Amino acid sequence: MSLTNRDLVTIDDLTNGEIESIFSLADKMSDAMPQQYGLCHGKVMATIFFEPSTRTRLSFETAMHRLGGSVISVADPKSTSFSKGESIADMARIISGYADIIVLRHPWEGAAKLMADYASVPVINAGDGGHQHPTQTLCDLYTLKKERGEIRGSKIALCGDLKYGRTIHSLIFALAKFGANILFCPSAGLEVPENILRKLVTEYGGELEKISRNHRPVKPGTIPVDAAYIAPNQPHQLAMMPVDLDVEMKAGVDVVYVTRFQKERFTNEEIESGQHFPVIDQKLMSSKEFKKTLVMHPLPRVDELAYDMDTDPRSMYFKQAARGVPVRMALIAQMLGMKETSVPEETVLPKVDYPIYRRGYGVKCSNSRCVTWQDTEKNYLKPEFKIVSFDPLTFRCVYCEHGTEPKYVASTEWHQGMVESKKYHLANSHLAKKIKPENLIAFDLAEEAEAHGFKPGYYAHSPVEKEKTEK
Ligand code: NCD
Repeated sequence: MSLTNRDLVTIDDLTNGEIESIFSLADKMSDAMPQQYGLCHGKVMATIFFEPSTRTRLSFETAMHRLGGSVISVADPKSTSFSKGESIADMARIISGYADIIVLRHPWEGAAKLMADYASVPVINAGDGGHQHPTQTLCDLYTLKKERGEIRGSKIALCGDLKYGRTIHSLIFALAKFGANILFCPSAGLEVPENILRKLVTEYGGELEKISRNHRPVKPGTIPVDAAYIAPNQPHQLAMMPVDLDVEMKAGVDVVYVTRFQKERFTNEEIESGQHFPVIDQKLMSSKEFKKTLVMHPLPRVDELAYDMDTDPRSMYFKQAARGVPVRMALIAQMLGMKETSVPEETVLPKVDYPIYRRGYGVKCSNSRCVTWQDTEKNYLKPEFKIVSFDPLTFRCVYCEHGTEPKYVASTEWHQGMVESKKYHLANSHLAKKIKPENLIAFDLAEEAEAHGFKPGYYAHSPVEKEKTEK
């Protein structure tokens, strides 16, 4: 498989072999940096950044300059026709006429997939809202491999804002792909979203153990753990004993990966409630379980990581940022077809192929930050979902990957064009499970089903509701 002309929207887009091939090319490039100049001569990269960035944009641009290519750049959405209401689809088609590769950072979740769908050149997601940031994950994994050699079987603690941290979301799947175990240490209220945990376990295998915070008072000077992911086929102590996560942390971790609170994505309640998390500093890291622990951070830091860690040999964050250049050089050169590396065919994770729901009516993505909700995109963009479960009926938006559970269902098979047979039922009734995916029609609201000519069927109400209407 070759990376030429492919898009990188989520970390799922790359197999382990492809990631390894990027890393070995990055190694070769950093050993012979001056010789790379000219490799992408005549190629143009567009960096379109509609959210603030220092490292990601500048390292992408440095990478392209070091390859001898050119860069056109937008770092302020107000300076583009985005501020006049231009859609992502139009922007994708226009920029494809100017550049050979597009790097996009955007506040809307799913924006990178949408850009990739309409662009005729490769698109790299440089962060789409709280969704994913796959090239930061490449820098993180590259650092882990260089410093530790083997990722399989290692134990990584993810700390801070696990809800909105897009680097965390990409990293979780990458760690699972490479067989690492994960300890989740979120700040209270900023836990990993359910849709991510669900995908992790169903598509990457392994086990998830959750511990309720209520039973576990946080001890001062410790990092509280609220869940653990044990990669499949691991001879790991967590897999062999009743889980005590305090014990697990006490046994030491290979990496503490810290993130800042992504306040720009907080709800008003989250801003008001205030967030607390133990600061990673020399005092905390002096406990014996952290003796060999690497400290990683995608940066920028705010208060969660003390400056007294900066000269500590366990601190990796400046290396992670610096390695962004060779890693992105290797990625760009391969996506532009200027360096081909042969990667053996392999089992690709995630491995589940779900049926798609794309009727264009009835169901809306549950995430208001999703690109499908935005006024500029609504005229042409129809919501589209993977049907990830029939019991309970659960859809996953193909753009932002949030889950949504439609309330009502119907089947094209039931009515076969006969208006009097157009009935809808509750999605949690037994009838829902009998519908073939290709026949499924789903609705969030009864009014919407009725607006489409469907009438309430026998199972359109819950038993309680039925009792009330019958009285
Ligand atoms: C991260 C991002 O933008 O998601 N920064 C980066 O790209 N290195 C992390 C952050 O902003 O907290």
